[in-house]
Amino acid sequence: MSEFIDIKKIGKVYERKIALSSLSLSVKKGEFIALIGPSGAGKTTLLNLLAATLPPDQGEITIDGQLLAEMTDQKKRAKKIGIIRQQFDLIGELPVIHNVLAGKLSEWGIMKSLLSMFFPQDKQDAILALTRVGLRDKLYERTSALSGGEQQRVALARLLIQNPEIVLADEPVASLDPARAEDILALLVKIASEGNQTLIASLHSVEYAKKYFDRLIALKDGYLFFDLPASSVTDAHIASLYKLKEQA
Ligand SMILES: Nc1ncnc2c1ncn2[C@@H]1O[C@H](COP(=O)(O)OP(=O)(O)O)[C@@H](O)[C@H]1O
Ligand SMILES: [Mg+2]
Repeated sequence: MSEFIDIKKIGKVYERKIALSSLSLSVKKGEFIALIGPSGAGKTTLLNLLAATLPPDQGEITIDGQLLAEMTDQKKRAKKIGIIRQQFDLIGELPVIHNVLAGKLSEWGIMKSLLSMFFPQDKQDAILALTRVGLRDKLYERTSALSGGEQQRVALARLLIQNPEIVLADEPVASLDPARAEDILALLVKIASEGNQTLIASLHSVEYAKKYFDRLIALKDGYLFFDLPASSVTDAHIASLYKLKEQA
């Protein structure tokens, strides 16, 4: 049986630094996976390879039976894969609604996208998405005037508009204070579950990883350290994952 996402022996090297070493993994449709591991483990590299924003040096990724490297149609790829990042990737000077509608950019032609700067298209969709993330009243607010948590909600609304089958999230709550962080993470998980999406998120917090995700994949120094159901991950697994080399 073919898996939804099949990662075969992918490797990535930056200059002389090995970021990922011959990593193989498969993911079933609808799985919620947390990527954990110390800083520099290769989590961002793996997410960027999956988002096709970075080409692997070795190996290949297949999504739904199709090679990711051959998925060159931007529009089709955006329907398959979306990514949300710690820095939100929003344009601060623009009103919230434009950032939300940017989720449609690959669907629209460039003309419609430019036009939308003056006459927002699909405004109803944007209102609906903003309502779902609790920001209905911020439609025309300048994005940079919003708090960090609100900006991440805008990024979630943009993801709702894009509605990809696979949602990748790179430390989506790392820049938020703990109370906001859990709120936003819970919202991301809710959105992905209501949309029957496959979710792969890198997280600092092992506690949240275990609470909100089915499966924990731990990376360390570019290698797979463990790959376990969330319920089987013990404190000992976590301690050895984050243990410094000096203490080994
Ligand atoms: N653009 C880059 N140039 C050089 N080295 C990089 C670059 N991006 C990441 N690395 C290195 O690759 C390794 C993995 O990084 P990364 O994927 O960002 O890990 P993580 O997200 O788990 O912190 C680290 O050693 C990092 O320093
Ligand atoms: Mg990272």
